[in-house]
Amino acid sequence: MTVKLVVLISGNGSNLQAILDACEKKVINAKVVAVISNNSGAFGLVRAEKAGINTIVLPNLTSGTRIEYDKRLADIVEELRVDFVILAGWMRLLSSAFLQRFQGKVINIHPALPGFFPGTHAIERSFDAFLIGEVDRGGVMVHYVPDEGVDSGPILMSREIFFRQGETLDQFEARIHDLEHILLVEALQKLISGKIN
Ligand code: GRF
Repeated sequence: MTVKLVVLISGNGSNLQAILDACEKKVINAKVVAVISNNSGAFGLVRAEKAGINTIVLPNLTSGTRIEYDKRLADIVEELRVDFVILAGWMRLLSSAFLQRFQGKVINIHPALPGFFPGTHAIERSFDAFLIGEVDRGGVMVHYVPDEGVDSGPILMSREIFFRQGETLDQFEARIHDLEHILLVEALQKLISGKIN
């Protein structure tokens, strides 16, 4: 059985690329049936098109509420009949109008350890905390999104990465992204084997 995924993105899509590569190489027994973006300029859409994946753009509403947006998004996702919804750099908070319809199916990746630096700019904030001696490590987590909590929810996998004395933010960020691409695929393997077994 091949597990069906939809990937939600807002930007570069390097995590999407990691998923597409893993599917292509059969590292995971999954197929991305569509990529959805709230941003028509997201480079991840180009990656998806290059891989022959259906893309859908649902721009942020200029008028209308967050609930209306999320209902519309949920209708689109429901039609795709996927096993899991992967938030890979999706820069909108999903309300329960969306989440209630996909309980146990929504997965997010966050570039920090559980309980640390929820929200945007987590890599920069981790790095700043390191510079002032507040933390000695950062990390990545992949977790379920059961509710409106920000970058919280039951952990599927997390992994630490220690700061290196003298490294720049760019260097640290590159290491975090490399780790994300590995951990996301491992987490999907775990998720998919649970689904298949
Ligand atoms: C990643 O760091 C992800 O953890 C965060 O947003 C970033 C998206 O990067 N939520 P990309 O678009 O996958 O390259």
